Amino acid sequence: MKKIISVVGARPNFMKVAPLFRAFQQYRDIQHLICHTGQHYDDRMSRIFFEELELPRPDFYLGVGSGTHAEQLAGIMLGFEKILQSERPDLVIVVGDVNSTVACSLIASRFLIPIAHVEAGLRSFDRTMPEEINRLLTDALADYLFVSEPSGIRNLQKEGIPQEKIFFVGNVMIDSLLYYLPKIAQSEILQTLHCQPGEYILVTLHRPSNVDHREELKELIGLLREIASLKKIIFPVHPRTRNKIHEFSLEDMLPANVIITEPLGYLDFMQLVQHAALVITDSGGIQEETTFLQIPCITVRNNTERPVTVEIGTNRLAGTDPAQIKQMVFETLSNLSAGRQEGQPIRQESVKTPGSKDSRIPELWDGHAAERIAKIIYEKL
Ligand code: UD1
Repeated sequence: MKKIISVVGARPNFMKVAPLFRAFQQYRDIQHLICHTGQHYDDRMSRIFFEELELPRPDFYLGVGSGTHAEQLAGIMLGFEKILQSERPDLVIVVGDVNSTVACSLIASRFLIPIAHVEAGLRSFDRTMPEEINRLLTDALADYLFVSEPSGIRNLQKEGIPQEKIFFVGNVMIDSLLYYLPKIAQSEILQTLHCQPGEYILVTLHRPSNVDHREELKELIGLLREIASLKKIIFPVHPRTRNKIHEFSLEDMLPANVIITEPLGYLDFMQLVQHAALVITDSGGIQEETTFLQIPCITVRNNTERPVTVEIGTNRLAGTDPAQIKQMVFETLSNLSAGRQEGQPIRQESVKTPGSKDSRIPELWDGHAAERIAKIIYEKL
């Protein structure tokens, strides 16, 4: 019997580990355990995802919570060290690029326990992003690097990672999206918010570079005001952003046709993505989900670590200059209404085989990435 511990910490980790959990259930001689660091701890940032994604209660909960960057990393490392000391697993799996990913990798490497990194090789080449540092360090430590898009292979090769450690397997986040589509269809969020499909723009903003400084956040909220005069906006607000809006006293700037909600669960949020006219975001994962669903996406960042979403997907990088974002939003909305007048709703374009020349779905984003990962790990262990 081989023992594997998968680490989850923050919201974007849960939908990546859920398909891995299911895939490992097929292997009787693998014991797959889940360690939740508690980096995200609110019910709406964590518990609801365990329920909706049908994940079991975590086997270990470190309860680290918020704090400074150093407090969070140190808290996770102290907690995970104890787990590894007593459990001595044969492999640690980390996903994505959050603080929990790198903190647990550092400890596993100290114990000489092999590390698998799911979503390896993504690079924004912007070292001001904490996630970029997390990605670089995690990939330098990992023994098995599971890559979701071709750029990841190139980046790892350039960094001198040996070819035999690199596995192009596809995207576990898309595994979840495909698996939960029937449940996403049953969400009642559109009725609850009194919205019709195609009638609204969905917005998410939480990057420190966009929300942690008063002037930037004020400009972005001013921009939402302008866009909302054209089309209804739904804005589920991340705790970081909510706290900053409050701290900078910007609440009154948000007009009535911006529908503000608490952070939403996976099923509600994905239904809103699926039926949005347009998504405006600074998230990483949402660039991928909109690409898969072929929903236009405008990313409020200067770079992306997921270039395939721009090269063949529906994503466009707008930078962070409000005038430029506004222009891109207006262009996208007028293209959409032109498409409709001609009776060609954008998102009914045919979806070809993922990765094929005429497809707009990246290669191997087919719902089976976690199965490939589990098979490779099983053979290696
Ligand atoms: C983290 C990840 C980011 C990911 C994001 C998704 C890092 C470096 N960043 O950023 O890559 O896109 O999660 O959400 O790991 N808070 C709560 N309740 C919670 C969690 C957070 O109120 O359950 C508040 C706290 O005030 C906290 C702040 O949000 O200080 C930021 O949380 P933190 O975990 O530091 O990073 P995120 O901004 O969520």
